[in-house]
Amino acid sequence: MADIKLSFAPMESITGPVFRRVHKEIYGGVDNYFTPFLVANKNHSFKRRETREFIPYDPNLIPQVLASNPQDFIWAAKVLKEAGYSEVNLNLGCPMPTVVTKKKGSGLLRDLDYLDRYLGEIFEGEDLPNISIKTRTGFENSDNAADIGKIYVKYPFSEVIIHPRAREEYYNGTVDMNAFHKMREQLTCPVCYNGDIRTIQDFERLRNEIPDIHHFMIGRGLLANPALALEIRGKKDKTGTKILCNYLTVLWDEYVKDSLDEKSILFKMKELWYYLEWEYPEAAEEIKEIKKSKTAAEYKVLVKKVLERLGE
Ligand SMILES: Cc1cc2nc3c(=O)[nH]c(=O)nc-3n(C[C@H](O)[C@H](O)[C@H](O)COP(=O)(O)O)c2cc1C
Repeated sequence: MADIKLSFAPMESITGPVFRRVHKEIYGGVDNYFTPFLVANKNHSFKRRETREFIPYDPNLIPQVLASNPQDFIWAAKVLKEAGYSEVNLNLGCPMPTVVTKKKGSGLLRDLDYLDRYLGEIFEGEDLPNISIKTRTGFENSDNAADIGKIYVKYPFSEVIIHPRAREEYYNGTVDMNAFHKMREQLTCPVCYNGDIRTIQDFERLRNEIPDIHHFMIGRGLLANPALALEIRGKKDKTGTKILCNYLTVLWDEYVKDSLDEKSILFKMKELWYYLEWEYPEAAEEIKEIKKSKTAAEYKVLVKKVLERLGE
């Protein structure tokens, strides 16, 4: 498995700096993390919360940028290069209506002439870091996956990360491997696969189907099972509920140290339990109670109950 690179996918509101630090300390197993998208706005300033995503410099972090305008992206890429980052990732996948209507994220995949001009202008920028992209395979559907690939191949991306779903599919249904192949066939740069890796078996199936892909990005699978990357690498010593309990406790405490208020921490932890439930369907009833909890005290009692039910 030495030739395999694993990345933790960016997930807005979940995989922030506190989460990444705690996951790395307690589990790890991934080669790098991505920031959730940083918005390159027209005022050319990052919010304080966004600056804390990438400062101090972290060699295992790739910052990701969402920009509706090439000039805004160039500004952000330069700021990030100055902060030490040699690679900046451009988001071409976000499906949220507020993003798409502003021709950002997957909204850029709706008009391919515009996408081509947009990327052309980006690469006119001077002194930029390496630029990678994280893309879907289409907007309404993936019929244009090859055409989008034909645009990407014109530009010197350091990597293309493909999530083979169209924007209209959000994160529903199954990934479209046909669309993955169609886009991928057009590309000459390194390609990373992303989507629906939830178990070792999913990973092994993909390894068989795309043996020449060496970089895999995992999001929800790592939220459901924070030891998944380790398990893929054949390390099974961190799979127990004791470690899970420690992870959840440390995560809560670190959010407190980071001055997050109780309501916001509770919201974040409940979001995490939404995915943990995938891994522990036998505790679905108890987890439902966790998701309804209204105070820290109530939450902690319920978590203890679930972890006891799960045993070692
Ligand atoms: C709650 C949530 C937030 C996300 N935020 C981002 C983001 O900030 N940037 C991005 O490129 N993708 C984002 N994604 C997409 C994931 O990075 C990933 O592409 C998607 O979940 C599919 O991979 P998975 O099946 O391994 O989870 C988000 C997905 C979810 C569910």
